[in-house]
Amino acid sequence: MVHQDEIKINGFLDPKTAAQYLKDHEIPDGLSAEEVFDSRINGGLTYNDFLILPGYVDFPASEASLESRITRNIVINTPFMSSPMDTVTETEMAINMALLGGVGVIHNNCTIEEQAEMVRKVKKFENGFITDPVCLTPTHNVADVHRIKQQFGYSGIPITEDGQLYSKLLGIVTARDIQFHEDDKTLLKDVMTTDLVVAREGITLEEANQILRSSKKGKLPIVNSRGELVALLARSDLLKNLNFPLASKTADSKQLICAAAIGTRSDDKLRLEKLVDAGLDIVILDSSQGNSIYQVEMIKYIKQTYGNQIDIIAGNVVTREQAATLIEAGADALRVGMGSGSICITQEVMAVGRPQGTAVYKVSQFAHRFGIPVIADGGIQNVGHITKALALGASAVMMGGLLAGTTESPGEYFYHEGKRLKKYRGMGSLDAMEYGSNKNEKIGNAATQRYFSERDVVKVAQGVAGAVVDKGSVRKFVPYLITGLQHGLQDIGANSLSSLREAVRVGKVRFEVRTAAAQVEGGVHGLYS
Ligand code: IMP
Repeated sequence: MVHQDEIKINGFLDPKTAAQYLKDHEIPDGLSAEEVFDSRINGGLTYNDFLILPGYVDFPASEASLESRITRNIVINTPFMSSPMDTVTETEMAINMALLGGVGVIHNNCTIEEQAEMVRKVKKFENGFITDPVCLTPTHNVADVHRIKQQFGYSGIPITEDGQLYSKLLGIVTARDIQFHEDDKTLLKDVMTTDLVVAREGITLEEANQILRSSKKGKLPIVNSRGELVALLARSDLLKNLNFPLASKTADSKQLICAAAIGTRSDDKLRLEKLVDAGLDIVILDSSQGNSIYQVEMIKYIKQTYGNQIDIIAGNVVTREQAATLIEAGADALRVGMGSGSICITQEVMAVGRPQGTAVYKVSQFAHRFGIPVIADGGIQNVGHITKALALGASAVMMGGLLAGTTESPGEYFYHEGKRLKKYRGMGSLDAMEYGSNKNEKIGNAATQRYFSERDVVKVAQGVAGAVVDKGSVRKFVPYLITGLQHGLQDIGANSLSSLREAVRVGKVRFEVRTAAAQVEGGVHGLYS
């Protein structure tokens, strides 16, 4: 019998049978991820060593869903995290990463109080109802309002009988009330607004927002039947809510999701206690080699003490064996990468590590069996690397260098040879370690903890310090990364991250190893200028 696909027209096969012919006669083009990441054949691969083959486009890029589960219990809309480094993530970065749908991880190269304060500010930043507003009494003065404004950035402060929540609400002081008061000693009872629009306890967020809109006031105090202040709603939050539809928030309190790093020493237990008090959602056990008795014990301690109150991201790991230890101990996610960071010299100095593409693939595929998400940490230089890391099975990427030059990263810009730069340094660089120890003599320095054993006298740096160019605000940069990633998904033919990961797992999404010449071809070349 003659097959349909073998009917020839003018000596050629019928074009209408092309797809069927492929199914019947050919093995799929390219290689499966499993074949590409067979280390016996291809060695260890980095993101630049391979490409993903294009698939079939049948949806607009803007419809590609980037929703991702980054720990056992937390799902976010943008699979991006900022590194716990003192030149990358403090309050500003963490707030903005969360507003844009990702998560910022606050570094621990500072005192416990400083880190807890940063977490507190992130958690307080955008609330549905602000349930612990700073209040003052009528006998505080204008200088107190300035102080609070400087410390927290708030301008509308409720005035209650004894300056506490659950005390009778007497008035409110806004920026406008003190605008023309040059005398800082003026008492607040003489400047506060007493003609208040308030709402009663029990009102829904939606109803409260409606009152704020129609009253045109900046703040809406919520009071109980005795006229005592129980919460506050801010108009500025309302506007922020509208502008950040992807924001990472907890379902109950509607506060931004915040993560922070700690070490594994006994004083880190106290650090964690303060961070949890400040509202922390995710703790990262920050270590360059996470497969240790210290992390296992810390994971068990955290689970025993806090149960499911916070999720733990353990690591770093790059092998299945390392992953197995931490998964068994109770980690809620794993951080993958050793030596791939842009400021990292671990592979050269310690002789250990693994090329990042291989590390992410091997650990992700293993951890997936246990429902444990993986964060691909370090080595992300462009949008393509993000798409690749997620295709290899990561649930999110963690970026240091890529975010370091943005407005929201800590530090000041400076000029060098006509370029606007910001400092970026490895947490294992001598620079960061010295900074940490000067700041934090008593409790030990976080950077030292991550990269050295307690008794090391001679310090061996595992990172370097340098500078990166100005990248503008993450409010523009992250949306660019989001759109770039969505276009990547569209080219691959996967309309969500979960469908991408699944298609890679079953061998439907195909890959190609990239030779050195292919890498040159793929970059910009042959231009005069
Ligand atoms: P990047 O995004 O390539 O710049 O890498 C950032 C990642 O490098 C961080 O999230 C850390 O995992 C890692 N890292 C930070 N500081 C050091 C260091 O001093 N040595 C090695 N790795 C580091």
